[in-house]
Amino acid sequence: MDKLPLVLVSHALPEGWLASLEGRCRTMVGPANATALAAELAAHLPEAEGLFSLLTIPVDAALLAAAPRLRVVSNMAVGYDNVDVAACTRRGIPVGNTPGVLTDATADLAFALLLAAARRLPEASADARAGRWTTWEPAGWLGADLTDATLGIVGMGKIGYAVARRGHAFGLRIVYTDPGTHDAAEREFGATRVPFDALLSTSDFVSLHCPLTAATRGLIDEAALRRMKPSAILVNTARGPVVDQEALYHALSEGWIAAAALDVTTPEPLPAGHPLYDLPNCLIAPHIGSATHGTRRRMAELACANLLAGLSGERLPHCVNPAVYG
Ligand code: GLV
Repeated sequence: MDKLPLVLVSHALPEGWLASLEGRCRTMVGPANATALAAELAAHLPEAEGLFSLLTIPVDAALLAAAPRLRVVSNMAVGYDNVDVAACTRRGIPVGNTPGVLTDATADLAFALLLAAARRLPEASADARAGRWTTWEPAGWLGADLTDATLGIVGMGKIGYAVARRGHAFGLRIVYTDPGTHDAAEREFGATRVPFDALLSTSDFVSLHCPLTAATRGLIDEAALRRMKPSAILVNTARGPVVDQEALYHALSEGWIAAAALDVTTPEPLPAGHPLYDLPNCLIAPHIGSATHGTRRRMAELACANLLAGLSGERLPHCVNPAVYG
């Protein structure tokens, strides 16, 4: 049994989610609420051959240096900006992620945020609970119409495309930015690829679906926010640092845009007392894009499949650095 490779699993997961690892490797599992790789796991990095990480664990040069036998990093997320992929590639370590299985859940959440912000649901619900619902007010809690409005999608990958499908069904016109043309979105939803500035100035809703990279960090900065319509709503289910949060605070409090709905922030968790929480036009969720029972389980299963492939020296089903295969 001792011959089986050691895998560090950064966080405890619900019963059965790691079932496929049984008998294939030895696991050491960190606490469910860990905010960094637990010290008792880090102590075993020198022997670890596999790492099963969540997006909250920085897989950086220091961690890699402490793990000379590491042969695979499996990140249970579609995003992998927490992993120093270049350093892994230099070491020949494949890095796995979990695309596809979370597309619909994340698109659903993006759309839920869009609708909630458009119809001011958090404010309306809080007012009802607080006794401020005194009559049917003709001009009370007025929100934005979706029909014939324009949805700007930044990043027409799998999730952007799934959001476009939802937007099209709600009668929204779709414009998008992406490094390439997305033929299916253009054909099926009449989506139009436009320059970034044009997307900002013409969209009633701007929904972010790009990965966090050097090029997208701070993409929605003061200049971008000032280009948006005063009636526009920004939805972010991608990564917090894509938005310059200080500029966003000014945009929301000074009326450059109408509202924002954020599933991701900088930092995460956004600390209690952060000024954004005080703004009635800012809806904040605790990074729950993929948080459905089925989706999170499928993400864990896919991360296990990546991990086991890496331990057996096979190609990962979803590898973000295929350069390791030469
Ligand atoms: C969640 O944010 C993910 O990248 O899977």
